[in-house]
Amino acid sequence: MKYTDKMLRDDALKGKNIIVTGGGSGLGKAMTKYFLELGAQVAITSRNLEKLQNTAKELETETGGKCLAVKCDVRHYDQVEAMHKTVIDNFGKVDILLNNAAGNFISPTERLSANAFDTIIDIVLKGTKNCTLACGKHWIDTKQQNTAVLNIVTTYAWTGSAYVVPSATAKAGVLALTRSLAVEWAKYGMRFNAIAPGPFPTKGAWDRLLPGELKEKFDLAKKVPLKRVGEHQELANLAAYMVSDFSAYLNGEVITLDGGEWLKGAGQFNILEAIPEEMWDMLEAMIRSKKK
Ligand code: COA
Repeated sequence: MKYTDKMLRDDALKGKNIIVTGGGSGLGKAMTKYFLELGAQVAITSRNLEKLQNTAKELETETGGKCLAVKCDVRHYDQVEAMHKTVIDNFGKVDILLNNAAGNFISPTERLSANAFDTIIDIVLKGTKNCTLACGKHWIDTKQQNTAVLNIVTTYAWTGSAYVVPSATAKAGVLALTRSLAVEWAKYGMRFNAIAPGPFPTKGAWDRLLPGELKEKFDLAKKVPLKRVGEHQELANLAAYMVSDFSAYLNGEVITLDGGEWLKGAGQFNILEAIPEEMWDMLEAMIRSKKK
């Protein structure tokens, strides 16, 4: 058994209809592919219809599943409502919403225009809110039970992070939304959970977060105690479990999948890893000598 193996039984998501925002590429595409392999029907959304249609066709061929491409800019509630209606018209119902669409780039905050800051907040926080509200209100109105929302956040949703301040601000809001509605809307049969992924390389994110030579300069695998970045299937395995009925008692949780990355940055003495083994004899002797 390898960590890149597919984890769940083949019919784990049979009968489930899922919306994956930002499903046309990157991690959204990887999770969509696995959902299809597990028997779900998946609607993928983004602003780029051509890219979405190509992805849908590719994934349908690869998996034999049903993948619907629906153009939608999650920043606009009218577009989200229209997208939701299109999915219902095609699939009959929606059971699961995966809020994966995001926008981000690195920048010193003082270089950002007010509109640049808003753009990230609008995609990440307002987009998640828009999709959650459209699905949630419909689930309440139709009394549909056993539904789930999975939000993709990040570990800096709770630590904060320099140079990605709009994203950190927005993701903190998404985390609060997740935990708040996990309690408030549980009575309507909905579950709300989140995943905080560490470094899972994708072209879209890497070109914006580590452009040009930064990729070589900052090897993110070195920041991870397990000394590697994540494999897309590892994230897809966790996401599939969290939206499946196997996780029916999981609600209001954020699961970090980062090889220990954020804790390595947090622990006060974690930097001591840089000390070579042979130096510890000397250091121990120095510490013990203080007793005398
Ligand atoms: N540094 C500073 N400001 C920037 C910037 C950068 N690297 N990139 C964009 N902006 C500013 C723009 O100048 C604009 O502000 P202005 O109107 O005051 O000039 C504002 O941000 C919006 O940019 P625009 O290109 O009009 O927005 P968009 O909606 O077309 O694109 C982005 C949104 C900027 C987030 C774009 O990177 C995108 O589409 N990303 C989607 C995917 C993604 O980010 N994935 C990564 C997830 S980790």
